[in-house]
Amino acid sequence: MRRQIAAANWKMNLTLDEGNLLLDDILREAYSLHENRQVIFAVPYPYLVPFRVKLKSPFMHLAAQDCSGRLNGAYTGEVSASMLKSIGIKYVIIGHSERRDYHREDNCLLLEKVNRSLEQGLQPIFCCGEALAVRESGGQNEFVKKQLQESLFHLTPDQIKGFIIAYEPIWAIGTGKTASSSQAQDMHAHIRSVLAGKYGEEIASGISILYGGSVKAANASELFSNPDVDGGLVGGAALMATEFSAIINSLK
Ligand code: PGA
Repeated sequence: MRRQIAAANWKMNLTLDEGNLLLDDILREAYSLHENRQVIFAVPYPYLVPFRVKLKSPFMHLAAQDCSGRLNGAYTGEVSASMLKSIGIKYVIIGHSERRDYHREDNCLLLEKVNRSLEQGLQPIFCCGEALAVRESGGQNEFVKKQLQESLFHLTPDQIKGFIIAYEPIWAIGTGKTASSSQAQDMHAHIRSVLAGKYGEEIASGISILYGGSVKAANASELFSNPDVDGGLVGGAALMATEFSAIINSLK
């Protein structure tokens, strides 16, 4: 079975004190986690080091929410993949729609970010997903396929093996409007078949594809019960301990 993952994306929320309280509340609960049932917290950069000591389970990890496409040098404000590696971080979100939209990150730049991450042994959580206008015109499958092709298809089978992909329809992010269970399953199956077309069935079936976009305790079980939905990337609901705990417990 491939990994089922509940990933929290805190975005630019919470002070250090608030974050500590939230994380402690979530960690107070007992979870049944193992190699194929894991939790990831993508927290703001300044909290990565102080939170490292809190995660005692080998099945709970921290992630950065982004990294630079450059190696190092005069890029004020950027954080490199090698810096993340040097503080013991193993996961990094790449290509979140908020980065694509607000920071004009395109498929080409994301390819560079993927490369920098892999060079440092980081596992990318690669986000893809279409805007409402694309969905309404029926072009979502082609759109997402192009995102994968242009940022990932230069990778070798070995490189793509450890990937986590997050499908996040932009129209469902932070809007309270979730993709229906069948919309999520259809797109996840599509993504897996695109990957299988390039890398073969075996590799495609090992890649975890998370759904993101207004996941909450009330809809997590139904979304995660789909055969190709391997958990969620959760924004708003991950800022509430009881919500996120329930989402973790909804994993297959
Ligand atoms: P949301 O955000 O759960 O608040 O919709 C998800 C995300 O952007 O990762």
